[in-house]
Amino acid sequence: MAKITAGITTSHIPAIGVAMDNNLEETPYFKPFFDGYPPVRQWLHDNPPDVVVLFYNDHGLEFFLDRKPTFAMGVADKYENADEGWGIATIPPITGETELSWHIATHLIENDFDMTVCQEMKVDHGCTVPMSVMWPDKNYSHIKVIPVAINCERHPMPNPSRCLALGKEFGKAIESFDQDLNVVLFGTGGMSHQLDGQRAGFISREFDLWCMDKLITDPQAIADLSISEIIQRGGAQGVEINMWLAMRGAMHGNLKLLHSNYYAPISNTATGLQLIEHSH
Ligand code: DHB
Ligand code: FE
Repeated sequence: MAKITAGITTSHIPAIGVAMDNNLEETPYFKPFFDGYPPVRQWLHDNPPDVVVLFYNDHGLEFFLDRKPTFAMGVADKYENADEGWGIATIPPITGETELSWHIATHLIENDFDMTVCQEMKVDHGCTVPMSVMWPDKNYSHIKVIPVAINCERHPMPNPSRCLALGKEFGKAIESFDQDLNVVLFGTGGMSHQLDGQRAGFISREFDLWCMDKLITDPQAIADLSISEIIQRGGAQGVEINMWLAMRGAMHGNLKLLHSNYYAPISNTATGLQLIEHSH
């Protein structure tokens, strides 16, 4: 059977992709951020996933404000990236996993999560920056990725509790798949940030550290917050914590936090990296 071996949270800030393209990882501005990654890359090297289920938000490349699925997932065998105007180099196509994708889509829809199921889907920095930061040589083509997009851009947005529950169904779907696959979950985006409006630049270290702790020990405490409470405490784009909740919801076995790094700010955003091992 397929098993979930870990969940990893990571930032997706475009500036990280630009920094990697320009070899700026060792500069004082970026070093404390990139210094968090080698242990996670090493773990992925030592425990290679067959499949990554990647929870992210599409910022407008595939789903613009005029048509925005609340929950969408890919069932394609390949996902292309495109220029979004951030100055990040376009990355090689990401490989998909059609059989497990269709199994998950069927399970979710039969269990009341009405996903938008995408046979074609461009993936933006929310998906590609996490792939690049974990595999900086872009040698990820052997890893099959299932991208799952959660709306964090246009109101109304799904409740945090709904995202945790979505993750639970992902967990059941993955663990009922009849092939011996190692599956790693990525929860991308976050942490506190607000990119525009009167509070542009808002960051709350206190809220972020609370989320990093509760994600492991009591995710329901985060899930009990409303979208407007998340915005008050974590900024308008702090809603990206919903992807972390979806990831966490899929993990119901024993958890072990193997690595953690909090650093802020990069660009306008706080970053949180966590490697959470999962076993039964
Ligand atoms: C930034 C953060 C994001 O989450 C994003 O999607 C784009 C930009 C930033 O801080 O620059
Ligand atoms: Fe974002």
